[in-house]
Amino acid sequence: MYVLGIESTAHTFGVGIVRDGEVLSNEKDVYKPETGGIIPTEAAKHHYALAAEITERALKRAGISLENIDLFAYSQGPGLLPSLKAGWVATRFLAEKFKKKIVGVNHCIAHIEIARMVTGFEDPVMLYVSGGNTQIVTYDKENRKYVVFGETQDIGVGNLLDKVGRKINLPFPAGPKIEELAKRGKKYLRLPYSIKGMDVSFSGMETFLSRIIAEEKIEDLCFSLQETAFSMLIEASERAMAYCKKDSLVIAGGVAANARLNEMGSIMCKERGAKFKFMKREYAGDNGAMIAYTGYLMKNYEQGDLRPKPSFRTDSVEILYR
Ligand code: ATP
Ligand code: FE2
Repeated sequence: MYVLGIESTAHTFGVGIVRDGEVLSNEKDVYKPETGGIIPTEAAKHHYALAAEITERALKRAGISLENIDLFAYSQGPGLLPSLKAGWVATRFLAEKFKKKIVGVNHCIAHIEIARMVTGFEDPVMLYVSGGNTQIVTYDKENRKYVVFGETQDIGVGNLLDKVGRKINLPFPAGPKIEELAKRGKKYLRLPYSIKGMDVSFSGMETFLSRIIAEEKIEDLCFSLQETAFSMLIEASERAMAYCKKDSLVIAGGVAANARLNEMGSIMCKERGAKFKFMKREYAGDNGAMIAYTGYLMKNYEQGDLRPKPSFRTDSVEILYR
C-alpha cells in the first residue's frame, strides 16, 4: 500500500511517500521570512506555489506515479489556518482526481509516531520542541490516547531562541547560531528557571535577557540561555518518565537538532537507566514522511470532518492501531 502524506502546518511544505509503512521519499521546502517572524498568508502562498513541484520530487524519488497512491494523508492541525488550508486543498484535489480516501493526521502525533519508528522505542516519552510547540507527550494505554503531560504556558522554546536572536541581530531562525555561540560561552548567568507543576514558561527568561543584553557577552548569554531553558525541559521530561513509568525518551521538533539538548537528554537517561537515541535530523523537524507514515497507521480510520483544525488537540484522537 502506497500512502502520500502532506505536511503544511506552519513554515514547511513537505511531501512524503511510504510503502507499507516504509519511507520511500521525504521532500520539503521551508518558507523563510526575510525579516521578523512568520506571516501566515505569506507561508500559505509559498505552499501553494511549491505544492506541485515538491509532490513531483517526492514521486520521482519514490519511483512511482500518482496513479499508484492508495491513500492520501494530510496534516490536519494544529497549525496556522492559511498554511493548513494549502495542504488541505492539495490533498483534496489529488484524492478527488484519483478517487482515493483521505486521512487527517494530527501533527503532534505524527512527530511521535515517526520518532517511535525511527528509534524503535515502543513507548517513549516525547519531548516535542519546535518554534511554535513545546510539549511533553506520553501514551495513556488505558484510554488509548496520547496525552500532553506538560507544556509551555507561554511561548515555545524555539520561539524563545528566535526572539532573543532577533535582539542580538542573528538571522532567523536563530537556534543554530545560538548553539554555535553558546559553545564559546564561559560564564553562567543566573536566569529565571520557571517550572510550574509539569509545565514550563519562557517569557520571564526572555524579559530578563532583554534587560541584561547590553551588559554581557553574547557568547555567555547564549550559553546561559541554552543551559537554563534545556535544563527546564529535561527536568520536566524526567518527571514525566518517572511518573508514567516510561523507560525511553525521544526529542522531536526543530530544536531537536541541538547537540547540547540531546547531550542533556542522554545524560539524564543514562543516570536513570533509561534509553535515549538521537533523532535523525530529517525526521526531527516538520516533514511529509511523518504524515504519510501516520496516515498508513490510520488507514482504517473512518473520519467525519476532514477539514483543517487549527487547534487540533493531541488527546482528542483515539489510537486504534497500538
Ligand atoms: P511547528 O509547527 O512544529 O511548531 P516550526 O514551524 O517551529 O514547527 P521546526 O522546524 O519544527 O518548525 O522548528 C523550528 C525551530 O527550531 C526554530 O525556532 C529554530 O530556531 C529551532 N532550531 C533549529 N535548529 C536549531 C538548533 N540547532 N538549536 C536550537 N534550535 C534550533
Ligand atoms: Fe512540528
